[in-house]
Amino acid sequence: MPATVEVALWRGKADGRYQTFSVPLRENQTVLDVVTWVQRHADPTLAYRFACRVGMCGSCAMTVNGRPRWTCRTHISKVVEDGRVEIGPLANLPLIKDLACDMQAFFEKWQKAKGAFAPSKSRQDPIERISPATAPRIAADAAIECINCAVCYSACDTVRWNEDYLGPAALNRAWTLVNDVRDAGGRERLAALAANGGCHACHSHQSCQEHCPKALNPTASIAGLKRRTMQAYIRGEL
Ligand code: SF4
Ligand code: SF4
Ligand code: FES
Repeated sequence: MPATVEVALWRGKADGRYQTFSVPLRENQTVLDVVTWVQRHADPTLAYRFACRVGMCGSCAMTVNGRPRWTCRTHISKVVEDGRVEIGPLANLPLIKDLACDMQAFFEKWQKAKGAFAPSKSRQDPIERISPATAPRIAADAAIECINCAVCYSACDTVRWNEDYLGPAALNRAWTLVNDVRDAGGRERLAALAANGGCHACHSHQSCQEHCPKALNPTASIAGLKRRTMQAYIRGEL
């Protein structure tokens, strides 16, 4: 690889433009390292978001050469094409400035999907033992490692054309709770998930699964929600 990489970064708001910087290459450098180099050495006004730098907080996602990615775990050597890389903000979210999006709608949809645990026991009750070998727990565990990065939300065409759609991350989270035997959200959550913009709006084209950096499969979780809400409807529970 050459000693520098040409980095085109989105600048300004939605009507902004790409600005190119020449950044020194280092061994094992990540996309986030490159963005950070620009902010520290070339233009301190560059706005972007990160926190943990180790793939846990989910705050560093950006669009890299047209594809949503977690930038702190993406090596620059993997994405450079002809000595150049283009880094923009995530799609499907309002842009605040440069590479920083407004995540409010994303997290409000988690609330609409009733993504908060609803306890069925009080603190006076003994702590319940849940076997990891039961089918509901296996289903919940398969979807539980989400870091709220919004990569799937940015990759989803249905989010793009249907502003009411709750999106793959919120629905994936809801699936973990639907399968949590300790949760008391029950019918109220299922009703929210079956409503307009809920699980039945998903077209199952699997962009979310293809792009998720944690190798989760929100499409499978949403398919489970479709079955579960349909069963509840047939039983007259919705
Ligand atoms: S499978 Fe559903 S949630 Fe995933 S990208 Fe496609 S429409 Fe969006
Ligand atoms: S499901 Fe995957 S891509 Fe979507 S927010 Fe969670 S970790 Fe990110
Ligand atoms: S900075 Fe936390 S996941 Fe990338």
